[in-house]
Amino acid sequence: MDVKEITLEELDTERFIAEKVQEISSEVDDRVAISALSGGVDSAVVTMLAHQALGDRLKTYFIDSGLMRAGEPEHIVSVFKKLGVPVELIDAQETFFDALKGQTDPEEKRHAITRSFYGDVFARLVRESGSKFLLQGTNYTDVEETVAGIKRQHNILEQLGINPEEAYGYRVIEPLIQLRKSSIRKLGKALGLPEEIYSRPPFPGPALAARVMGEVTPERVRLVRSATTIVEEELAQSGAFQYLAILHEDRVTGIRDGKRDYGYQIEVRCWESTDAKIGSPTRLANKVLDRLAERITTEVPGVVSVTYNITKKPPSTIEAV
Ligand code: XMP
Repeated sequence: MDVKEITLEELDTERFIAEKVQEISSEVDDRVAISALSGGVDSAVVTMLAHQALGDRLKTYFIDSGLMRAGEPEHIVSVFKKLGVPVELIDAQETFFDALKGQTDPEEKRHAITRSFYGDVFARLVRESGSKFLLQGTNYTDVEETVAGIKRQHNILEQLGINPEEAYGYRVIEPLIQLRKSSIRKLGKALGLPEEIYSRPPFPGPALAARVMGEVTPERVRLVRSATTIVEEELAQSGAFQYLAILHEDRVTGIRDGKRDYGYQIEVRCWESTDAKIGSPTRLANKVLDRLAERITTEVPGVVSVTYNITKKPPSTIEAV
C-alpha cells in the first residue's frame, strides 16, 4: 500500500493543520473546490481545513441521499452555519433509490452508491460550480480495508484503479488519508468543531444502506431509520465506539395482538474499538437490552424480533453490508 500511516502518537496537530491548509491552497490556487460534507467527523474536519484554506472559494454541499438518519441533513447544515461555513443541501434521493433498485448483493449496492455520488451527483455539482476539485474525508482505515479486499468503501477510487479525473472530470483531494479516526477527532477539536461533531460515533458513507440487508427501498430505510433513532438514544451514554441497528432480509414468525405475525427482524450491534480495525461487542446490561427490545418492537412498525450481535470483528465487520 503506497499510503503511509501517521499514528496518533506521531501526529503534531498544529503542524498537520498548517501543512494541509497550505497544500489545499496551493493545489486549488485561485480556483473553486467543492467539499462533500456528510456530517461525520472525517468530512467535517476536511470541510474546516478547506474553509481555512479557501474561504469563499469553497462550496460545501450536504447530499441528502435519502439514506441519512432522522433530521440529520437539516441539523448538520445548521451546525456549520453557526461555524460560519455555508452549506447547501442537495436533494438527491431519487438518484440513489433508482441506482439501488433491485440490488441485493452487498458489493453491488456499495458500487451503486459510489456511482451515484461520483458519477451523478458530484459530477453535476462540479460542472455547475465550475470547480475541478472534490475534497473528501477518506481515512487510512477506508483505504486499508478496500485494498485488503474486505469491503469496497464508498469513497475509495484510486486504490481500485479509478482515476477520478478521467472517469468523472475532477480531481479528488484527500487530506486525511494517512490518519485513523482517533487522530481525526483530535484535529476536529483543534479546528474548533463542537464536541458533538468531533466525538460523534462513526457513521458510514453509504449511510443506512450499509444497514439494510437485501434491497434498499425507501420503506426499508424508514424502518431502519426508526430503529437507529432508538438505538442511538438508548446507547448514547454507553461510552461505546459505535452502535447501530440493522434490518434483516428474512422475516420471522412472531405474535402480535394474540395472532401470528410474520414480521421484521432488527439486529442491534454495539462495538468497543479504538480504530474500527478490530472490535468486540459491548457487554450491555440486561436492562438496557430489555429496553431496546421493548422500544424497537413497539415503536417500529412490523418488527417482531430484536437480536444482539455477540461476534467480534473479525470475523464480523462493524456494518452488515
Ligand atoms: P466495517 O463495516 O468495514 O467498518 O468494519 C469499519 C468502519 O468504517 C465505517 N464504514 C465506512 N465508512 N465509507 C465510510 O466512510 C464506507 O463505505 C464505510 N463502510 C463502513 C464503519 O461505520 C466503521 O466505523
